Amino acid sequence: MLLIAHRGASAVAPENTLASFERALDAKADGIEIDIIEVDGEIYVFHDRYLERLAAQPGRIQDLTQAQISTLKVFGQHPIPTLQETLSFLQGRCLLNIEMKSEIDTHRLAALLDWACAEQGFANNQLLVSSFDHHWLQSLKNLRPQTLLGALTASCHLDYAAFATTLEAWSAHIDINVVNSRFVEDAHQRGLKVFVYTVDEAHDIAWLKKMGVDGIFTNHPQLSRNILEGLPVSQNSLLRQF
Ligand code: G3P
Ligand code: CA
Repeated sequence: MLLIAHRGASAVAPENTLASFERALDAKADGIEIDIIEVDGEIYVFHDRYLERLAAQPGRIQDLTQAQISTLKVFGQHPIPTLQETLSFLQGRCLLNIEMKSEIDTHRLAALLDWACAEQGFANNQLLVSSFDHHWLQSLKNLRPQTLLGALTASCHLDYAAFATTLEAWSAHIDINVVNSRFVEDAHQRGLKVFVYTVDEAHDIAWLKKMGVDGIFTNHPQLSRNILEGLPVSQNSLLRQF
């Protein structure tokens, strides 16, 4: 079962920052998941629509300029990286799942994926683009057919993973609250991988492993690895450590 660091190792460093990616690599995570949003002609790695929780100021990130965004610090500590900086930092050292949180200029994103493969050490099968908006994914697939897509859902549909087949996705990414063995079996019969978000608890990890899911998004890849390997873990491991 793959361990994908959710927003980087976000339990131990500010989420979606180079520091959280470094900690994920330290933990030997199989992959890193990031959120991207396009603002003022640049693609940033950032999860929220509003700045309050992460950057301690009112308003939407969407309404700022590049100059204003460059002054922000996530949890008062680390700058908001661009997607380009993130690709350059990671250099293909693990799988990267890029989740589109806003509509992104498809040509800009496709060009960055091409650049990552040509010049930054990524193989095409290390770049997985996901979104809850399947129209955005379809546009990217039309422009860049070799892109691996992850079709996100927070629902268990009547026809299970059919939506992911329609999209020609590589994987279906589903909320832990609605995943079940029927969904996993249907997805596997369609040749899809199944990744489940967001999973940090030992009981859930054991349950999903038994169900045969292919990977989980976890905020604490080191803790999840220890749980998978049956090593002792501290009760306080999930308390925020920064
Ligand atoms: O990509 C899986 C998961 O990250 C989706 O939810 O809100 O954490 O971006 P969220
Ligand atoms: Ca996400």
